[in-house]
Amino acid sequence: MKRFFKRRTWLLYSIIGLSTAVAIDSCSKQSEDVLIAQQHPVTCDTTNIKLSVNVMPIFKANCYRCHGNGVVTGGVSLDVYSSLLAQVNNGNLIGDITHAPGHVNMPFDGGKLSDCEIAIIQAWINTGAPNN
Ligand code: HEC
Repeated sequence: MKRFFKRRTWLLYSIIGLSTAVAIDSCSKQSEDVLIAQQHPVTCDTTNIKLSVNVMPIFKANCYRCHGNGVVTGGVSLDVYSSLLAQVNNGNLIGDITHAPGHVNMPFDGGKLSDCEIAIIQAWINTGAPNN
């Protein structure tokens, strides 16, 4: 009986030891991930922004189903430069995608562009919204 108890104690200690080791390991793994994230922050490149290269893909993925390829909702065709420029110049484009008060939130069917996508569009507008 004594022997049996000893065995159980040994087993108990092993289990405690093992789970502690696992806990410590997963903990250090977590802080490792945080460290890596800090060393490599997700960067948003807003340099050398071009309409065709950087901005249009955002519109294609998020807006064309209502404002592109011949679909003209609310009188807006984002794939027609003159129509797009009009929305830039009247302030609706940036107001709508940033969900600014008094604007119609776009995309209309919900969601919001990511901060980086908005920053890219803003950077393009800041350079004068060229047709490049
Ligand atoms: C599901 C359809 C849909 C999607 C997707 C969509 N829109 Fe719209 N958009 C609309 C509708 C509907 C209107 C008209 C809203 C109104 O006038 O009340 C509109 C109007 C607009 C206007 C002019 C509205 C104003 O402020 O007067 C702009 C600019 C615009 N959309 C930009 C965008 C951009 C940029 C995207 C993508 C990020 C987008 N939309 C995605 C449906 C959509």
